[in-house]
Amino acid sequence: MSSAGDAGRVGGDAVTEEPDRPPVLELAGVSKRFGAVQALFEVDLAVRAGEVLALVGDNGAGKSTLIKCIGGIYPIDGGEIRFEGRQVTMTGPKDAAALGIEIVYQDLALADNLDVVQNMFLGRERYRKILGFLPRLDEESMERAAMETLAGLSVTTLRSVRQPVVSLSGGQRQSVAVAKAVMWNSKLVILDEPTAALGVAQTRQVLDLVRRLGEQGLAVILISHNLHDVFEVADSIAVLRLGQLVDRFDASRTNQQEVVESITAGTLRQVPGMQEATS
Ligand SMILES: Nc1ncnc2c1ncn2[C@@H]1O[C@H](COP(=O)(O)OP(=O)(O)O)[C@@H](O)[C@H]1O
Ligand SMILES: [Mg+2]
Repeated sequence: MSSAGDAGRVGGDAVTEEPDRPPVLELAGVSKRFGAVQALFEVDLAVRAGEVLALVGDNGAGKSTLIKCIGGIYPIDGGEIRFEGRQVTMTGPKDAAALGIEIVYQDLALADNLDVVQNMFLGRERYRKILGFLPRLDEESMERAAMETLAGLSVTTLRSVRQPVVSLSGGQRQSVAVAKAVMWNSKLVILDEPTAALGVAQTRQVLDLVRRLGEQGLAVILISHNLHDVFEVADSIAVLRLGQLVDRFDASRTNQQEVVESITAGTLRQVPGMQEATS
């Protein structure tokens, strides 16, 4: 790559803001192998509170594997995951959720037949004890919390939180899935291709929502194939190629062409196939 284009690159030590506050999430030398496939190789990556970090890369680059490692679904083979400065070991998605990590997967995993409130509280329902009776679902308090969360994110297009999710548009469904994620004291929200299936207006709606998550102080990792979307909302852009983190850019100091070059030809530290099959 030309040195003229290197202005936007952020070196590992060049992060200057808030030196006393650790990143919300930090990966150090994270590796993951599936049999002969080195899906991730010594990935270093950090994301701070209030930062929207876009994670980009070609198919097979390791994006999904990386977020599944962060989400506690895959154990890592090497390296460290630190959350708010402390090393963590996750043995399942519940561990990640307990830390405040929420992942909105591409398929959204919403229950079509349930309404918005029921979806947002699915598996985490609130109950109300009435003296002498069995505990009952506290519908009122759940409805209020759901409405407050949606309003706090300026999600205003829903007719009612008692609508079944099947009746929502793609953008509304995505908004509900995001609201569900942020309702649980999340500190880090990861979105996997949130606009992939959406039209122009709905994409706009979801991108605005992503930006608001950052403005509210959450750390956000956005996976996207759409560089236009990425440049709309991201503060920084990390490029994965063949399992390696090849570049990290400050979004305001790079451009689509430079990022595309990095995705397709970013410099690898290790040439795949050249390493010994040690394990
Ligand atoms: N569960 C798995 N078992 C074996 N190989 C996998 C598994 N998941 C991913 N891989 C491989 O790891 C590499 C990275 O895949 P993935 O993380 O899905 O990439 P991306 O999400 O960037 O398209 C690919 O070569 C893929 O085939
Ligand atoms: Mg993927």
